[in-house]
Amino acid sequence: MSFLPEAASSFAGRVDSVIWFVTIICLVFFVLISVLLVYFSIKYRRKTDGDSTPYQTHHHAIEVIWTVIPSLLVLFIFGYGLVVYDDLRTPPKEAVEVDVLGKQWLWQFRYNNGKKTLNELYVPVGVPVKLVMTSDDVLHSFYVPEFRTKQDLVPGMYTYLWFEATEQGNFDIFCAEYCGAGHSAMLGKVKVLSREEFDRWLSGEGAKEVATRGPTALELGAELYGKRGCNACHTVDGSPGVGPTFKGVFGRMETLEDGTKITVDENYIRESIYEPRAKIVKGYPPVMPSFKGMLSEGEVSDIIAYLKTLK
Ligand code: CUA
Repeated sequence: MSFLPEAASSFAGRVDSVIWFVTIICLVFFVLISVLLVYFSIKYRRKTDGDSTPYQTHHHAIEVIWTVIPSLLVLFIFGYGLVVYDDLRTPPKEAVEVDVLGKQWLWQFRYNNGKKTLNELYVPVGVPVKLVMTSDDVLHSFYVPEFRTKQDLVPGMYTYLWFEATEQGNFDIFCAEYCGAGHSAMLGKVKVLSREEFDRWLSGEGAKEVATRGPTALELGAELYGKRGCNACHTVDGSPGVGPTFKGVFGRMETLEDGTKITVDENYIRESIYEPRAKIVKGYPPVMPSFKGMLSEGEVSDIIAYLKTLK
């Protein structure tokens, strides 16, 4: 008998053990307290009119016991949960990236070769997959119960989620954030294929009905780099320019004017395109114009895809 859906990701078993651990502690204390409550109310009930209530005003040993034991238990639950949570939030470096766009009311997935699918996410089994997600309109939330993972998609920023599927087959995707009239119909499937099937699918065969193929994000991003004039200030070969070079920019640690250090990620690049003055890298003049209204969110994510390749 199982109260939980099938566990089909690498960390699902650990998420379940945390849930069971907390549930069992709650059950044990619920039963213990209920039984004692009934037992004591019968044992110490008033038996005659002249009965005086036996009344304990204070007991140091008991007070210490019922403070220390629950505190230790709660601390242990916190620590145990934190370790598993940290695993859920930290995608492995070698993860395959898929871009996810949520919109009223569908899921769009874009793979690293430019292939796009709607409402069907294809992934290989036994390989970590990292989703780089954003929303076109309102809050959505990507939820796959069998993988025990869920993450909001937020308009105007990128959020991340990762998983490694351990079973082949189809798993439901739900939107877990109320997002308007079509929320309950914002459904999808994760299709977990074997490594070979996935590679075959990605390179084209047998998927014409769901896939549309255009220029890749990388190609579009590289084109925008020239067309929108990024190249006037940012080089791609490491040579100096008005702004920091794009060579190796993604994942680079930069020091800002006020001395704080940041790591360049999707959200930093997006902000630097739309609000260039928000965080200026030390040693560079604050001269970049905002590209708000000149580059769409989709174009920004294309440029990010391009920058990721400039190692
Ligand atoms: Cu999208 Cu609910």
